[in-house]
Amino acid sequence: MGPYRLFTPFRTMTQVTNTVRFVLDGQIVEAQGKRRTTTVLDYLREQLHRTGTKEGCAEGDCGACVVMVGELNAAGTGVDYVATNACIQLLPSLDGKSVKTIESLKKADGTLHPVQAEMIKCHGSQCGFCTPGIVMSLVNLVQVLPMPNRQQITDSLSGNLCRCTGYKPIIESATKACAKPEALKLDDSADVPLLKEIKRASVPTLSLDGDIIVQPVVRTRKGNEFVSPATIAEVADYLIKNPSTTLLAGSTEIGLQVNKQFSRPDHIMYLGNVAELRQVSETASAWRIGAAVSLTQVETLVAQAYPDFTEVLRRFGSPPIRSTATLAGNIANGSPIGDTMPCLMALGASLVLRRGDKTRKVLLDNFYTGMKKNVMQPGEFIEAVELPKPVAGQMFRAHKVSKRFEQDISATCAAISYTLKDGKLSGVKLAYNGLAPSPCRAPKLEAVLEGKLPADVKAADLDAAITASFTARDGLRATWAYRALVARNLALEFIEEQTKEVA
Ligand SMILES: Cc1cc2nc3c(=O)[nH]c(=O)nc-3n(C[C@H](O)[C@H](O)[C@H](O)COP(=O)(O)OP(=O)(O)OC[C@H]3O[C@@H](n4cnc5c(N)ncnc54)[C@H](O)[C@@H]3O)c2cc1C
Ligand code: FES
Ligand code: FES
Repeated sequence: MGPYRLFTPFRTMTQVTNTVRFVLDGQIVEAQGKRRTTTVLDYLREQLHRTGTKEGCAEGDCGACVVMVGELNAAGTGVDYVATNACIQLLPSLDGKSVKTIESLKKADGTLHPVQAEMIKCHGSQCGFCTPGIVMSLVNLVQVLPMPNRQQITDSLSGNLCRCTGYKPIIESATKACAKPEALKLDDSADVPLLKEIKRASVPTLSLDGDIIVQPVVRTRKGNEFVSPATIAEVADYLIKNPSTTLLAGSTEIGLQVNKQFSRPDHIMYLGNVAELRQVSETASAWRIGAAVSLTQVETLVAQAYPDFTEVLRRFGSPPIRSTATLAGNIANGSPIGDTMPCLMALGASLVLRRGDKTRKVLLDNFYTGMKKNVMQPGEFIEAVELPKPVAGQMFRAHKVSKRFEQDISATCAAISYTLKDGKLSGVKLAYNGLAPSPCRAPKLEAVLEGKLPADVKAADLDAAITASFTARDGLRATWAYRALVARNLALEFIEEQTKEVA
């Protein structure tokens, strides 16, 4: 038997463990005996010899490894794809899904996908190293947007670096390819029945005593494992029994730890198949965003109510990063320069934390206790983020300052929320990243603003509040002098322009 085995569609379904099963171009691939931290990229290249997918940076930055990962759509009639960085995704998280690589695009009669054909005609490729990733990002785009405009095309390429061709002919290729909309859609008719066949169970397995058994996808002889539960009950139960488990959501942090720090957690639990965690629900006053909801979905969710939040998200990583990365992962990771937290804090977001069958609500302002430290107890996890909806008269502004516009880490990101009462600032919530060991509110700056007419706020008072609030630290991305200046100027800018009332 070769490195993978192909099933016939009529094979009897059995519960398979230690085998990752996914669909590739009309066939089921069984990946057996692989480590729980094998990346999708390594498996594609080294075992399946799909070497069109390249490794550039191995940290989600360059886009050379972009592939499309698919799941059955809600109706079970087709496949929904996302562009993904294969270098930072772990193979066992593919179980039950499908993949398209650059090799998937050429039809049996040799016809290329219109994006490929136009890349050739428009001279969109020179050394070619970036080309498969660029083509996959564009092919993914046109699956949902057959007539993208220039902005949508450039946005879709913000995570694909090309060092020799330049983007003009690449953008031209994408535009010209869209002149043949009927040829853009991938034919996934052969994949749909196979995806149904390998569909993961949606209910927990119980022992004769009624205890939950979380079936591993991958298990080693030492007892280390990768599990992929379907329900919150399984997540909670497994975490109580194995509190040191590493939770895996979008893998855009964990994948780097695996590749760059050679992290090999004993127990990994993937949350991407937990139906309850993938849901967004709402009341009249708030959204409840499940811990496995992607940032791409959040971007759309908040677009109308909080356009500045969407703009911060548009500049968060790149589309393949945002297609898997989650709010909960950003929050739990707790990086001092995490970008969503200032927005969430200014908007008064709370976390629903669960341990076993008990939940508690914690205001995000009170979540961090230090650099990458938080109030979560062993066995506890973030179940959802509760984001208040805008109230009448509320202003919300946010802005990320970084050296590059796209795909860059913040020098600082700031966000503010307030209303105006008789023209005076009221209920001010101002939060930053990049100024302290964790993202945080800035109560002394809020006090400078609260109750004042915007025109009466003095830059010197804000400067004094910044000095009194934070310890001056120069960093790799900015000096303290620069960060402090930006922090003050953003606060002033946010109150000067009041045209962006959100409700
Ligand atoms: C190329 C690139 C660009 C990036 N750009 C940005 C950027 O612009 N701004 C920014 O802020 N970040 C950025 N990041 C960092 C990263 O994408 C974010 O932090 C992201 O939100 C992490 O989410 P995730 O779902 O991928 O987390 P994962 O990698 O799956 O997990 C991250 C951490 O959270 C824990 N965790 C996950 N879910 C839960 C849960 N439900 N409960 C408790 N713990 C949990 C995990 O155990 C892990 O410790 C970038 C990363 C890369 C690779
Ligand atoms: S190899 Fe660079 S993003 Fe994956
Ligand atoms: S064609 Fe050489 S890096 Fe893009």
